[in-house]
Amino acid sequence: MSIPHTFVQELLARADVVDIVGRHVQLKKSGANFMGLCPFHSEKSPSFSVSPSKQFYHCFGCGKSGDALNFLMEHTGASFVEAVQDLAQQFGMRVPEDDASPQDRARAAEQRKKQTTLTEVLEKAALAYQKHLKNSPRAASYFKGRGVTGQVAKQFGLGYAPEGWHALAGAFADYDDPLLEESGLVILGEEKDGQSHRYDRFRDRVMFPIRNVKGECIGFGGRVLGDDKPKYLNSPETPVFSKGRELYGLFEARNAIRDEGFALVTEGYMDVVALAQLGFPNAVATLGTACTPDHVHKLFRFTDAVIFSFDGDSAGRRAARKALDAALPLATDVRSVKFLFLPPEHDPDSFIREHGKEAFARFVSESVPLSQFLIDAARDGCDLQTAEGRARFASNAKPLWEVMPAGALKQQLLSEIADLVQLSNRELLEVWQHAPARGSRNSAAKPVTKDAEPPVWNEGPRPRKAKQSNRPNSRLPAARADHAARILLGNMAAFDTLTNEDLALLCGLEAPHGPLFVWLQAQYHEHGVQPWGALRAGLAELASQTYALQLMSGLEMLDNNTDIPGEQSAEAKDELRQLLNRMLVEQLKINETAAIQAAKTDPCALLRYREFQTRRMALEATGPVPQATGGV
Ligand code: CTP
Ligand code: MN
Repeated sequence: MSIPHTFVQELLARADVVDIVGRHVQLKKSGANFMGLCPFHSEKSPSFSVSPSKQFYHCFGCGKSGDALNFLMEHTGASFVEAVQDLAQQFGMRVPEDDASPQDRARAAEQRKKQTTLTEVLEKAALAYQKHLKNSPRAASYFKGRGVTGQVAKQFGLGYAPEGWHALAGAFADYDDPLLEESGLVILGEEKDGQSHRYDRFRDRVMFPIRNVKGECIGFGGRVLGDDKPKYLNSPETPVFSKGRELYGLFEARNAIRDEGFALVTEGYMDVVALAQLGFPNAVATLGTACTPDHVHKLFRFTDAVIFSFDGDSAGRRAARKALDAALPLATDVRSVKFLFLPPEHDPDSFIREHGKEAFARFVSESVPLSQFLIDAARDGCDLQTAEGRARFASNAKPLWEVMPAGALKQQLLSEIADLVQLSNRELLEVWQHAPARGSRNSAAKPVTKDAEPPVWNEGPRPRKAKQSNRPNSRLPAARADHAARILLGNMAAFDTLTNEDLALLCGLEAPHGPLFVWLQAQYHEHGVQPWGALRAGLAELASQTYALQLMSGLEMLDNNTDIPGEQSAEAKDELRQLLNRMLVEQLKINETAAIQAAKTDPCALLRYREFQTRRMALEATGPVPQATGGV
């Protein structure tokens, strides 16, 4: 459904952000604004500010900001359309639909009404199952035997579907109501003697109601009390329930996810219940399916940090691999994705019950970051002591690395992978760029040859890195890289003007340049423009510190990292553009030479040569480029 932009504007004009936020957060007037405790991260002193004049909220602690609609989406986990509908309803406004015909609109209204009635039906069944649990000593003692307390059973609305084919007839006056079928509660069997035969889907099972983020019941999972098969039975896909999108326990966990600052993703119903009971109320579960991008996306509406927990067996590792695939495209620099592996014989439920909260917390704190797991996953089965193993590893890593969003994390992973395969960043990117597509014959174990040409550095006062690197240095003149570093250190805003090609070039340079650019770009990405003084303090964490300090020594006066970008910064951007074009041209020439060399044995190299040449000529056409080998 698409909502006209004008309507959204009108809605935002009517809504007062102070009023909307104020319903969820206690606000106190402070000057022109209102302040309160940020609902998006835990804090003791208020850094969450709401501006009535700008109709905007902003947290100085975690950086979250937005308008009334953003707030509703962030805070209640509503989608954009849901937030608009919610707000519109409060003002008695009807949400128009852009491109919908009257028939479409009528159908949409019908659909919405049906969804409400379906959740109403499911809610009613949930209550009935809860009641049956109270009256069934067998079911109650099943839960008790698994250590579930009455309190947590109530919180999750656990229930019991009794034996017999038509137990739900006791809760619904009209057992033939088609809604019972549509909601997945009743199954329509084969017709017999002209009579259709209907019966309860869930029979003699303990029941886990699945709720959407609004808390409405949208489906069930039911477990046998013994060892029958299937162990778990889930609701079918219905208009209100889709397994690939929903997470069990998200409604119950959503506040805890905010308070704890992360979400724990498990595989089972009982894992969520046990974790909630024993000290991890921020756990959710996928519903017997592999983790999907939709799941991950949904979680990131509530938190920036997700820890996936898996059983330590091979099935667990396979599931983890799927979760990695789902999370990679969403792994931006501000987010944290980690993987927790329990001992092989355990799932979170059995582990926490046997070893307790502290032991589980230790596993949480030792969980593996996405970057490490990506490398582990790609390295699986590759012997990095051999060229073949390293090549296979590079080829495994390629599709994983490629789907990541651009940013500092991605750049750092590039360096790590390059290190492991003993290539420079640029060489690795080149290898990847020209690797045959996955799945084609002999793609995997093709050995990567190393270029043995000696490095051509411009020797200068620049400190050389002591560590002997076994990768060839980039053969670009170092003076240009020094120059680019000086400009960017003094004019961080110039990062705005860099293209991906520029960034790949700069970040791919050998130490000390490459790592400095990676670091600086991350600084810009996370904190925006910072004055040289602040940057200098931050440099302490970096191996290239001495180099950067030498570059900037005596040049503090050049610092343009102020709030008000002046003429100088525009000049710096121009200068940087020219410089980068020169560097790109030089790099392309180096590539061209290498490609011509390689063309003697590899016919594909000729194509590469053409590509480099075309790109170089395009760059040269954009402006005067002095002799590539000339000074800076
Ligand atoms: N699952 C399912 N259908 C099955 C088996 C499993 O939907 N036939 C889902 C359930 O959500 C289950 C999860 O996959 O919770 C994990 O399955 P499994 O590890 O087999 O079960 P546990 O959660 O450990 O179940 P329990 O502890 O109750 O034995
Ligand atoms: Mn289990």
